Amino acid sequence: MNIKLNIVILAAGEGKRMNSSIPKVMHKIGNNTLLEHVINKSLSLSPEKLIIIYGHEGDKVKSHINESYPNNNFILVKQGQQLGTGHALKCAISNLTQDAATLVLYADVPLISLTTLNKLVESYLSEVNQSNLVVLTGLVANPTGYGRIIRDFNSQIVQIVEEKDATETEKVINEINSGIYLLPNQYLPLWLNSLTPNNNQQEYYLTDVIKYARENSKVKINSVTIDNSYEIMGVNNKTQLEYLERRYQEQLANGLLTQGVTLKDKTRIDIRGELTTGRDCVIDINCVFEGKVVLGNNVTVGSGAILKDVVVGDNVNIKPYSLIDGAKIGDGSQIGPFSRIRPGTNLNAKVHIGNFVEVKNSTIDENSKANHLTYIGDATVGSQVNIGAGSVTCNYNGFTKHKTVIENNVFIGSGSMLVAPVVIGEGGIIGAGSTISKDTEPNELTVARAKQQTIKGWLSQWLKFNKDNKEDFEK
Ligand code: UD1
Ligand code: MG
Repeated sequence: MNIKLNIVILAAGEGKRMNSSIPKVMHKIGNNTLLEHVINKSLSLSPEKLIIIYGHEGDKVKSHINESYPNNNFILVKQGQQLGTGHALKCAISNLTQDAATLVLYADVPLISLTTLNKLVESYLSEVNQSNLVVLTGLVANPTGYGRIIRDFNSQIVQIVEEKDATETEKVINEINSGIYLLPNQYLPLWLNSLTPNNNQQEYYLTDVIKYARENSKVKINSVTIDNSYEIMGVNNKTQLEYLERRYQEQLANGLLTQGVTLKDKTRIDIRGELTTGRDCVIDINCVFEGKVVLGNNVTVGSGAILKDVVVGDNVNIKPYSLIDGAKIGDGSQIGPFSRIRPGTNLNAKVHIGNFVEVKNSTIDENSKANHLTYIGDATVGSQVNIGAGSVTCNYNGFTKHKTVIENNVFIGSGSMLVAPVVIGEGGIIGAGSTISKDTEPNELTVARAKQQTIKGWLSQWLKFNKDNKEDFEK
């Protein structure tokens, strides 16, 4: 397909019904704003020019675009006053390429598919030696609020009538205008400059270009129609935002199923970014994947797990309700249930991190385990290390963070406090309940706790004392 494409994204509308101080087009579906969805779709069509018409809360929208797409070559045009869709496109006229076609997209219609857009392009190119205008229309059960498509007896589109200007007979028509079109640039300046706001809303309607196109014998009006599709649904309020979020998640979940991932319930998974999976992965209910998550082969993710920017190796078992953020999990490791793994964590192969264990900014080598109630922060842990329940690397003295090094084959007894900076020497054992504040010797037992004593006869004396003074106490 060969087409020189200009894309104009209309993003100037206000979005009052969102009841939010965030501009409408900056609300998110998945991990992307509505506007990002439309820009990303546009970029995959390799347009010669991408023009974004912004207006309401323009500064926020502009800086959002520049933060998300640094070094972009988009053309941003301000529409000072929102005088209608026709006026919005008119703001782009001076930037349009004379021999190109313009695809008009709405920034608040985020789930339009590439398949549909390619159909518009095909239709545009289908008539040789003609300049086409292609309208994307939809057949919907409830057309209320949309512009209706009026066709003649030959099924040719003759007009688009807005709800507010429609007669009762026209309102019954259930073929609606999506607002997405492919237009021939050579006539756009003439058509757009001819628009008048003679309608109930006193707006410059882009839909009125149909009228001018019909008057030009060189222009053929085509349409592509889709059935009951959320692709052309816009977001005007939070209910519609939620509806499209679910449709988007459904698309992603179906994609995973097609790739061979086992989902226990495709309606109970949320992907807010990019999830890449190996073979034979199983994902239980209510898991959330954020940012970039990569799962190796044969990974099991238990229910309620939340993974953000994580690379998981092969044969890993992530048990329920674990939170893993900014980490690398080595092959054959087991995490959870209820583990919290924080950024900067790098677990080598076959590491076990169990319930109520928090690991932050630490490296843990092969076959090491911390199975219960432990905090490991700013630590380097060797291989074959066993960290007993209730142990803490005391990495913060109130001012600065310090490192703990636990060398290979160390056994840390339960309830040990390792006061950093400290090195636990290779092969050493730390007695349970120790507070270790100095480096320990390798291959030795180190115990640092108050000595246990038995005070002979103390208890019987204490009982006798209580009995003798009972009456006094009761007075
Ligand atoms: C428009 C169409 C209607 C169609 C419907 C589909 C017109 C006259 N009507 O109606 O036929 O069924 O979309 O959703 O085109 N915008 C601007 N500047 C403006 C006005 C709008 O940038 O001055 C942007 C909005 O941000 C939005 C899009 O254009 O993204 C559509 O505007 P909206 O006011 O929602 O148009 P509708 O009245 O719904
Ligand atoms: Mg609308």
